[in-house]
Amino acid sequence: MLSFSYQNHTLHAESVAITDLMAAYGSPLYVYSRTGIENNWREFDQAFGTHPHLVCYAVKANSNLAVLNILAKIGAGFDIVSIGELERVLVAGGKANKCVFSGVAKTVSEIERALEVGVRCFNVESASELNRIESVAQSVDKQAPISIRVNPNVDAKTHPYISTGLKENKFGVDMNEALDLYQIAQKSEHLSVQGLDCHIGSQITDVSPFLDALDKVLELLKQLNTHGITIHHLDLGGGIGIDYEGEETINIQAYINA
Ligand SMILES: Cc1ncc(COP(=O)(O)O)c(C=O)c1O
Repeated sequence: MLSFSYQNHTLHAESVAITDLMAAYGSPLYVYSRTGIENNWREFDQAFGTHPHLVCYAVKANSNLAVLNILAKIGAGFDIVSIGELERVLVAGGKANKCVFSGVAKTVSEIERALEVGVRCFNVESASELNRIESVAQSVDKQAPISIRVNPNVDAKTHPYISTGLKENKFGVDMNEALDLYQIAQKSEHLSVQGLDCHIGSQITDVSPFLDALDKVLELLKQLNTHGITIHHLDLGGGIGIDYEGEETINIQAYINA
């Protein structure tokens, strides 16, 4: 069933006429399709087959509690960028150990709370942030799981305002600085190296920028291995473009296979 379609010239959400929803709830009205959300997430999840993976929903896209609850129930992970987003995920039934904490402005109290509930990983966006996470972890006598978010300097060929993986974007650490940060993390009693993270932008309609970024990430991974630093997961981001007006976009299975 299509999430939204015209049946007898009337827009329907799944099998319900929007006009009936407007009669019941008034207008303007936000309508989400449970089936549409579940199918989109499952398409990603199933594309990985038996390969170990976790598909994380970017909570910033829509943090409506009902939407988060649908995703929590089917086993989604969550990409969060603030403690508010984390609290919403928890209230909606999501698990802290399926949350990755991204974002360039994590405060001391946010790091404390994320450690308290046990997020899966902090995606560290700068040297100063690594330092801050380490000192908070030390103050509460915990070990913080971390990935370094690297900036691969690739052009995602998307709108400049939603590009995140170019050198001039504020996100992530220069590829050349990453090794130093991993070495600092590896030596720290209060940091535990888990992954390597990269996000290049939103509304991406072509696989090639993802592959360019991945090539750079894999090169760094090899370099880390030669320094005895083991990476347990890759966190690869960049949002798949939406087909707004019949544009070609990425086929999820082809992307994951690539
Ligand atoms: C770390 C991270 N996750 C998620 C997003 C949301 O975008 P998308 O859903 O397109 O990946 C962004 C956007 O900047 C981001 O930086």
